[in-house]
Amino acid sequence: MLGLAGVQPAVDPGVSVFMSETVKITVRPNGPLRVEGSIVLSDANGKVWDLTGKPAVSLCRCGASEKRPFCDGSHNRIGFQCAASPEPLP
Ligand code: FES
Repeated sequence: MLGLAGVQPAVDPGVSVFMSETVKITVRPNGPLRVEGSIVLSDANGKVWDLTGKPAVSLCRCGASEKRPFCDGSHNRIGFQCAASPEPLP
């Protein structure tokens, strides 16, 4: 008799699975972190922002945004200055 006895699901449906898709994060000069790709953005309590239909988001790096964690352009208003370029990690 053919059947699925003894066959276990590959993934426990109760376990969160993160895909191995590459996410690109660009540090904008004097501006936000631009995040492109499939991401889950949550607060410290696990509450998730609905990013449906958003292929990319900009996350505030200056701390002045009224829409944190998202950038609202306030970095320009406050004259945020922070250049960043790749260097070896400590
Ligand atoms: S980086 Fe744009 S408002 Fe903070």
